[in-house]
Amino acid sequence: MAVTYKVRVTTGNFIRSGTRDSISITLVGTEGESPKTTLDNWGVDFFTGSVSDYEVSCEHDLGEIVLLRLHKEGAIELFTTNWYCNFITVTSPKGAAYHFPCYQWMEGYQTLELREGTAKTPAMDTLPLLKDFRIGEVRKRQSNYGWKIFAEGVPHCLDVSSIVELEKDVKFSTVKAALFATRSTSKKIELKLKGYSDSQKSWENLEDIKKVFWFNKSDLSVYVTEHWKDDALFGWQFLNGLNPRMIQRCTKIPSNFPVTNEMVAKSLGEGTTLEKELEKGNIFIADYKLLDGVPAGVNNERQQYVAAPLCLLHLSKQKLLMPLAIQLSQIPGPQSPIFLPSDSEWDWILAKTWVRNADFHVHQAITHLLRTHLLAEVFTMATIRQLPTCHPLYKLLIPHTRYTLHINTVARENLVSQGGVFDKHTGVGFKGLVEVLQRGTQALTLTSLCLPEDLEARGVSSLPHYYYKDDGLKIWATVKSFISGMIDFYYQNDSSVKEDWELQKWMEEIFKKGFMSQKSSGISSLLSSVQELKKFLTMVLYTCSAQHSAVNSGQFDLGAWMPNFPSSMRKPPPTTKGTANLENYKDTIPEINTTCIILSVLWLLSAPPGDLIPLGNYPDQHFTEEAPKKLILAFQEELKKISKEIDKRNESLGNTGVPLTYEYLYPPKIENSVSI
Ligand code: FE2
Repeated sequence: MAVTYKVRVTTGNFIRSGTRDSISITLVGTEGESPKTTLDNWGVDFFTGSVSDYEVSCEHDLGEIVLLRLHKEGAIELFTTNWYCNFITVTSPKGAAYHFPCYQWMEGYQTLELREGTAKTPAMDTLPLLKDFRIGEVRKRQSNYGWKIFAEGVPHCLDVSSIVELEKDVKFSTVKAALFATRSTSKKIELKLKGYSDSQKSWENLEDIKKVFWFNKSDLSVYVTEHWKDDALFGWQFLNGLNPRMIQRCTKIPSNFPVTNEMVAKSLGEGTTLEKELEKGNIFIADYKLLDGVPAGVNNERQQYVAAPLCLLHLSKQKLLMPLAIQLSQIPGPQSPIFLPSDSEWDWILAKTWVRNADFHVHQAITHLLRTHLLAEVFTMATIRQLPTCHPLYKLLIPHTRYTLHINTVARENLVSQGGVFDKHTGVGFKGLVEVLQRGTQALTLTSLCLPEDLEARGVSSLPHYYYKDDGLKIWATVKSFISGMIDFYYQNDSSVKEDWELQKWMEEIFKKGFMSQKSSGISSLLSSVQELKKFLTMVLYTCSAQHSAVNSGQFDLGAWMPNFPSSMRKPPPTTKGTANLENYKDTIPEINTTCIILSVLWLLSAPPGDLIPLGNYPDQHFTEEAPKKLILAFQEELKKISKEIDKRNESLGNTGVPLTYEYLYPPKIENSVSI
């Protein structure tokens, strides 16, 4: 008996997602296939944002609809136009609805097969047709997305050399691409006009640095400009700045940093000693030993310098983290004096500036590039290459990979390449950057990527005014609970994790390509329990969203006043006290062109991104079942609660010594993925 199926097609609602090509459909059911049917209503079909209904007639019932084929063919126009299809719903004559998430581009003339949207692990598929489908899909993606080595001993990356080679599905949207291009070119032109970007001279007046980006200032950048010499702001940045995972509790003064009680007695105040403060747990240390021996680069044809400082800090009675002492090398001795707040003004400022410079290198190479961008790319690649679209973890993770391959390709082309911005305008150059990345990769551990364990290991869980910790722990717990709900729904027990060979391949790829098969990372190439899977996925989702936001968004706020975040040092670290003054300070920090070029990059990377999707928002409905949809809603509600708590906290920061709000982990400002 002839039957009719209703078909509803939703086209993407962003620029150029509609097509004028001819679209036909074939429905594939357990009891047979429909004839290929052209979807053609009166007037224009498939325009941007359209939702249109069609009918497909068959000679008999098709049973369960498991697949459909979309055929894109030539219409009247001579030229083909791309089509971005969001979603298709098929309703059977008996009223059963089958949902087909698409969310991909169709380019040229082609046929695209889509599976019905219910998420399924390989064990849940029984039909040979569907089993073959998932194998074929993964095989195709593996040929389209290959790996390459960016540098030996560093996480591998997508094998393309330019964004021109990227698949359209992973590229920036038209809106984001246009905004990104406008911002990067307008900054270059503006700096050129001012004559800044060509000048290799030192700044004549530090005040002139303010002029570079005077119209882009933020409350925080203004505060830093006015308070950059304050020890309280210097200490605050270890907690809430760009690199908030550098400090650890110090229980014993290291033998290579011989700070004595006499040196710090004045800073500690009366009635206590260094020994007592160590016992109380009030002493902290930032040790940049990772930079020791890293080769320095050459900027503007002049040799640059890199230091590996140590900085001791004290949690004061006012609950402020204050620097006590700084040593600029890992080897103590007469050539490496221990600088103190009681030294001459410029000796102390210069010592702190060296620490800020070391922080620039560790932040950009390790905290930002390696531990968010490069790992996010590995997670993205493994998800695309090893998980078919119907896999629950593909549906869960794909929104958290948006634009990552594009931004990392841009970074490899322009920023972190040989001859790129970082090579020419930071103190480590390309060779040094690779060495820092290699050392950082060797030290990668799962523990250090899991916020609660990282804080515990560094002994900083009880530090006050540590908003990176406070807000981060709340978001971590919320992400964990969301992931937990999802995993419990799809995996009944540890065996179902172990037997999911697609998941195991995904994990194996991450272990090999991201953690370089290092057992010391605490990661294994096998996931053997529900618990392990939950923990790993929580880390993945948190790293791609909140962690990147925490270490990316403040780059302009904290770096606009260049002396607070200098990318390079033009003179070696001082070997005696009493030699620093304003004049040689200006000849040590970056010259005019380096300052301007780095500032324009920091601005570009931390300006509010166009086309942002905040954490926990999933406009693309990859999940079609009720249970995951409910979990998404609960996740969003929890994030709203956290936002309210952060609002309240930020309102009451007036009398905390450093009256700055902390918004880098404010959920509406956290992007779902690494996209900038
Ligand atoms: Fe970033």
